[in-house]
Amino acid sequence: MRMYDLIYTKKLGGALSPEEIAFWVKGAAEGSIPDEQSAALLMAICWRGMGTEETLALTLAMRDSGKRLDLSAIPGLKVDKHSTGGVGDKTTLILGPIVAACGVPCPMFSGRGLGHTGGTVDKFAAIPGLRVELSEAGFLRSLRETRFANSAQTADIAPADRKLYALRDITATVESIPLITASIMSKKLAGGADALVLDVKCGPTAFMKTLDEASTLAQSMVDVGTAHGMQIRALITRMDAPLGWAIGNALEVMEAVEILRGEHGDSELAQLSFRLAAEMLIMGGAADRLEQALGMVRARLQDGSALETLRRFVALNGGDPGALDDFGRLPQPGQVVEVRADREGYVAAIDGRALGLLAMDLGAGRKDRSDVLDLGVGIRVRARVGSKVAKNQPLFTVYAKRGVLVAPGPFLRTLELVPEPTAGRAWLLKTINC
Ligand code: URA
Repeated sequence: MRMYDLIYTKKLGGALSPEEIAFWVKGAAEGSIPDEQSAALLMAICWRGMGTEETLALTLAMRDSGKRLDLSAIPGLKVDKHSTGGVGDKTTLILGPIVAACGVPCPMFSGRGLGHTGGTVDKFAAIPGLRVELSEAGFLRSLRETRFANSAQTADIAPADRKLYALRDITATVESIPLITASIMSKKLAGGADALVLDVKCGPTAFMKTLDEASTLAQSMVDVGTAHGMQIRALITRMDAPLGWAIGNALEVMEAVEILRGEHGDSELAQLSFRLAAEMLIMGGAADRLEQALGMVRARLQDGSALETLRRFVALNGGDPGALDDFGRLPQPGQVVEVRADREGYVAAIDGRALGLLAMDLGAGRKDRSDVLDLGVGIRVRARVGSKVAKNQPLFTVYAKRGVLVAPGPFLRTLELVPEPTAGRAWLLKTINC
């Protein structure tokens, strides 16, 4: 088999066989196929696409490039969640402990942030002492003792994805539905969960800008999961404004804890987290209907057991659970600057992508994979879409490194202020079940 022929076939829009796909993935991961040939094939896939059979074969080849976690020693259906990434998305920190407190084991592997979007691993890393790279034994122990485990993806899970993703990142080939499907689903299938809820983000801040694109991606992932015996369903949710008030790692831990304490219960972030948790409870067999599952979520918040599960997870994995009660023990910024409205109006839109990039510039996110984060910096967004703003009202609190000059202009430009009230917006755009 020659890699040249695979590239040529795909360039002309032909389909690759499972054997050809397996040959490419194995060669790319081992280094026997040069990066320029893999990059050429990736670009051809971006333009020509892949059929369902090809996407399935690519997912399997990537899954089988590494280890598969065996969770069979943990009783019950294990349920995972994946979000395609957004600004201020800290749902894992909220729903993981809730689902676990309801009795459903929740094994989760997470990523680090890059560019305008944050990563769950970085958010957990803001809790002093917490180990965010668990060994397999540590992961299983956490799942057994707290029913919740979260760790950075280990190097031996789908290593072909690591290699191909790095190439996609530098060749403008990330935004391809079959490539995203195979990348996400290979890791999820290798992670060993029985069921998966997907939160596919849709909007200007997300990979998928339109409902059509987001639906196609969601259906593609649902099809691949179903074909491999995974229970899977997807929510398509809006991603334009940041999710919640916090952008930045320690700040996002604070907001997640506040929601677990029962505060901000009607915010979009809380509603999304509770809905995802409820879907997980239904898939895990703990509830039959959505209302019943949402009732279980509310009960675990009210009796404090969801927050207590997070404390136990943190303590078991070397972290300081006291930091969840005393936020002064979380990483702190060097300075705090208020940005105030320069005029009055109603908030018609908030540019989450621009705020994500501003948070990255403050040191909360990475421009480059090797960047070291400042876990205490970030942005508190004090306005919501639809809210009325008076002149001089604080709109953003900026938590920055000492000595950094914080100019208000770039922050104010992320808000669109209009003279008339704007209509409310739905956060849930569509659901897709298997
Ligand atoms: N997240 C992934 O893990 N892979 C992609 O291709 C896109 C988002």
